[in-house]
Amino acid sequence: MAQQKATHITWHQATVTAQDREQLLNQKGCVIWFTGLSGSGKSTLANAVEQLLHQRQHHTYVLDGDNVRHGLNKNLGFSPADREENIRRIGEVAKLFADAGTIVMTAFISPYRADRAQARALLPDDRFVEVFVACPLDVCEERDTKGLYKKARAGEIKEFTGISAPYESPLEPEVTLNTADLSLEECAQAVMAFLETADLVPAGR
Ligand code: ADX
Repeated sequence: MAQQKATHITWHQATVTAQDREQLLNQKGCVIWFTGLSGSGKSTLANAVEQLLHQRQHHTYVLDGDNVRHGLNKNLGFSPADREENIRRIGEVAKLFADAGTIVMTAFISPYRADRAQARALLPDDRFVEVFVACPLDVCEERDTKGLYKKARAGEIKEFTGISAPYESPLEPEVTLNTADLSLEECAQAVMAFLETADLVPAGR
């Protein structure tokens, strides 16, 4: 848990509220949290869902692991403590986006249950959707889209998730999708179907 270091700080209440922004945007701000191994298809799926939402006139944003690690989180590596801080910051950023009224998708391995639970706890229950991108390790390794599994097996990358660092599967995700069995289109439609059922987006707008 990150320590509160600053003292003598006061929370300022905004006069334009989250509800006002949502009314203007005509949508509900929420977080769709994709979790899974490297190469499981988190970013691809998040981007496909974003396409569908965008086509329906929704305001969206994708926060992606590799991209955020080039900027906001460039000072973090892959130790357990750094991954925790990575996910803590992303959780807070995602919360701000949702508060701004955006449908935000996050695509991070986020291997630890406790860290994902912390991100979830920042939002109301009905505004956080955990999507487990449940592609088996052997399929991710076979794909090896970035050539990282090969390097991890050769010992060139330490603490690599699934090889030499843990991945804790979600116990009760809202959605589970095996990208080895389903097409990208099927996975994206399944996420959309959940969002509609959960009343986060209207059906077929
Ligand atoms: S997380 O564990 O902290 O959630 P994050 O999603 O930000 O990870 O970054 C994972 C991406 O970083 C992977 O898709 C891969 O491209 C790259 N990467 C580099 N080193 C590692 C490593 N040791 N373990 C996992 N991913 C790594």
